[in-house]
Amino acid sequence: MKLGAAGRIEKPLLWLVITALSAAIFVADTVTDLEIAFAVLYVAVVLISVRTARPGAVMLVGAVCAVLTVVSYLLTRFGDPESGLANCGLSLLAIGATTYMALRIEAANIAARQAQAELAHMSRVMLVGELGTSIAHEVSQPLAAIAANGSAAIRWLGASPPNDGEARLALERIVEAAGRAGDVVGRVRNLAARTPSSQGPVDMAELVQETLALAQGEIRSSQIALRTELADDVPMVAGDRVQLQQVILNLVVNAIDAIKAGRADERDLLVSLSTDGEKITLSVRDSGVGLAPGSSDKVFDAFYSTKPGGMGVGLAISRSIVEAHGGAVYAAPNYPNGAVFGFTLPIREAKD
Ligand SMILES: Nc1ncnc2c1ncn2[C@@H]1O[C@H](COP(=O)(O)OP(=O)(O)OP(=O)(O)O)[C@@H](O)[C@H]1O
Ligand SMILES: [Mg+2]
Repeated sequence: MKLGAAGRIEKPLLWLVITALSAAIFVADTVTDLEIAFAVLYVAVVLISVRTARPGAVMLVGAVCAVLTVVSYLLTRFGDPESGLANCGLSLLAIGATTYMALRIEAANIAARQAQAELAHMSRVMLVGELGTSIAHEVSQPLAAIAANGSAAIRWLGASPPNDGEARLALERIVEAAGRAGDVVGRVRNLAARTPSSQGPVDMAELVQETLALAQGEIRSSQIALRTELADDVPMVAGDRVQLQQVILNLVVNAIDAIKAGRADERDLLVSLSTDGEKITLSVRDSGVGLAPGSSDKVFDAFYSTKPGGMGVGLAISRSIVEAHGGAVYAAPNYPNGAVFGFTLPIREAKD
């Protein structure tokens, strides 16, 4: 089992490398002559610090490297002080420029991740618009037919003598129109699921890590402690990578919302992935506000939302996607507080 936070399993190791490398450069720079500009190698340390994905950390590493360069210069006993000073200046310039560039790269990375998350949200908003138009358009015809045939039936029955034959025909047309309206609703549900356009093999563990990276900014700024438990024997599943990513993102975003609305002292999020050989199970467990009493069968309904700005479509779409993949969704209370949402997917042969 691999444990870690959002794909940053290697974080303590990263800091160990940064510290060890800085220390080695510091010692080498101090014991060698002033003419040898070992301090330039701090540039590598700054570049490695970009992997922490935290601008604050990059800035700290840059500053520490600069201080170490100056301290080395002051401590070095051998060599020509003038070239030593020039080397020290050049090294500081290199460290400064690299830190600046590294920060620019990280800012661009953050912007890219945010844009991706916004895109996922946008596609949902567009889908709702699409659904609304399509429902209104397609249901209006059978509804008009029902109304017209209803009035006709009333007229035929009210005539003297009542025309049972015509009334019966009108009623049959009503039943038929109602059936058509039902079909429309069924088709709209399929549209929401957008039947998997690809049946390619999807590495769910990788997809979880990637999706959590999208939500990373929000998780960090909400001070949520994220843990992942991804079993390493989970096989590939057949499905649409983009749709499955949307489901995971919906569950994670809901969990973040629930945690933000919950107790400030408990902010835990656990995303786990496991398999029993027949299906895979993905679950998102949070310590947030929890499910409203009696709502566990309503939460997946379209337009059910308890949030001020919520549309109530995230879970409805997620359910359609998962069911279109032959799986099932579930929601349950978490103990001692919060909720656990998740889904199962069958393990099948993947076709490209
Ligand atoms: N992790 C959770 N903890 C507690 N309640 C939840 C959780 N996830 C969902 N819910 C409940 O289910 C409702 C429906 O969720 P859903 O994602 O469908 O819509 P939403 O989040 O309100 O809005 P949006 O359409 O923007 O996603 C939520 O409003 C909330 O009441
Ligand atoms: Mg939601």
